[in-house]
Amino acid sequence: MKFITVDTYAKMSRRAANIISAQVILKPDSVLGLATGSTPLGTYKQLIDWNEKGDIDFSQAVTVNLDEYVALDSSNNQSYRFFMNKNFFEHININMNNTFVPNGCAADLEEECKRYDENISRLGGIDLQLLGIGHDGHIGFNEPDKYFVKNTHIVDLHESTVKANSRFFSSEDEVPKRAITMGMVSIMQAKKILLIASGKAKRDILEKAFFGPITPEIPASILQLHPDITVIYSED
Ligand code: GLP
Repeated sequence: MKFITVDTYAKMSRRAANIISAQVILKPDSVLGLATGSTPLGTYKQLIDWNEKGDIDFSQAVTVNLDEYVALDSSNNQSYRFFMNKNFFEHININMNNTFVPNGCAADLEEECKRYDENISRLGGIDLQLLGIGHDGHIGFNEPDKYFVKNTHIVDLHESTVKANSRFFSSEDEVPKRAITMGMVSIMQAKKILLIASGKAKRDILEKAFFGPITPEIPASILQLHPDITVIYSED
């Protein structure tokens, strides 16, 4: 594991964008696993900038997102599909048909989970997975539990996650209580993992996740077993 600490969010974002662009330059048809949340916003901005300058080309890239709220469709400005379109995809030269986000409005959610995993396998797995981390150690929406969940699945969000994510909604009541998330198999089978986190409030959970015991109570701790993971943490 490479654990890099930098002093500013801007430096973290630039380092992360560097790793992603190196991946896409070396393998233009890379399958990128992408994340939402406030942490990756600076990384996406930097990649948009380099794409505009012609330094990085996403025309052959494929993306698979980690998760989506149940019952929010793509036109809802709180859905993760909306987030990805608005903060990244609409600004780069990617083929929208090659961007995949779980469908939280599917009539049969179990079937959607199965379909999502099958699609990832069809694509040959993920080349580089970008991750953030929740305050309780969740990755995607894999919440602390008694065991690690392997496949894409429906999850009941923990109260602390609903609370943390309520900052994007007008009230806590509006935050969906369920989500679809990629499971640990697709994440752990990614060839490379890049986890970014910023701010003092994330320090404690990073320490537990990467320097403590591997336990499903801290889902991100499983990443210690990954052969090629880089963590970039910014202190500010
Ligand atoms: C959400 C997302 C996670 C993300 C986490 C942290 O719960 N499902 O993928 O890592 O938020 O978000 P932030 O980066 O805003 O702290």
